[in-house]
Amino acid sequence: MKKLILKAAVVLSTICPLSPDGVAAQTAEEVETGNRLAAVLRAGRSVVSNSQDLINNPDITDKGLSGDVFYEQVIEAYLEANGEPPLHDGLEPLEQKLTETQLDAMVTVIDANQEIINAEGVAFKGFIPAVFARLVNEQFADKIGTSAMVKVTAPSELVRNRMARPDTWENSVIEEKFKDSSWTEGQPFFEETNVSGTPAFRMLIPEYYSESCLSCHGSPAGETDVTGFPKEGGQLGDLAGAISITLFR
Ligand code: HEC
Repeated sequence: MKKLILKAAVVLSTICPLSPDGVAAQTAEEVETGNRLAAVLRAGRSVVSNSQDLINNPDITDKGLSGDVFYEQVIEAYLEANGEPPLHDGLEPLEQKLTETQLDAMVTVIDANQEIINAEGVAFKGFIPAVFARLVNEQFADKIGTSAMVKVTAPSELVRNRMARPDTWENSVIEEKFKDSSWTEGQPFFEETNVSGTPAFRMLIPEYYSESCLSCHGSPAGETDVTGFPKEGGQLGDLAGAISITLFR
């Protein structure tokens, strides 16, 4: 992550050499915040993923996976992936507030889904990382209001949930940047732009299929997966989607 931030700072200083330091500093801060929100979301999804066998066990009716327990696991997963905890002294107040709100949203979602997670006699409950992430992003939107947005989107031909459809900006970044063979894998795209007339910092972070995704998103295309959706025919390393961050100014 540090590397990405550094890269971002370098890009900034080359594309806007004349801009006042304050503007560059604001954008660098926003890039850091965007990376952090994406990393917290990923940590949350990884905890759901690591708990998937437990969640899918039809015989354990008290799985002990409360919001509080989940919270501790997310902090740990984040620490392991990023070398520092998601919350620490030294975060800017806005970054702190957004991160806390996102973690709160996770606790709310896990607490609200206890009945499903603990359902007796049901093995596959549909409580998977992608669904969890969508619920968390919705809950985050409820809590934070109109100052920021976190969304998972995808190339339009891959979208399963219509809520995830890319908007015009997301679509053009996916089509023109991420799908371009010269785009460095994993590199985010960000810029200052407008959302419905409101100035905003927007950032899109590409995600790719790993082996674990292909039981649902892999081959043969069209075959129904365990969630009831037709598989996309995706292959290892293909562009799968993107985490989209908007910080309104
Ligand atoms: C158990 C099956 C399953 C697995 C495994 C799985 N997904 Fe999904 N994925 C889904 C379902 C179902 C949705 C729709 C979720 C919803 O209702 O919002 C989805 C949604 C998504 C989305 C959001 C866009 C959309 O289509 O709605 C992305 C991006 C995505 N998956 C990528 C991945 C990646 C990357 C992996 C592996 C790390 C993965 N998925 C693993 C089933 C799966």
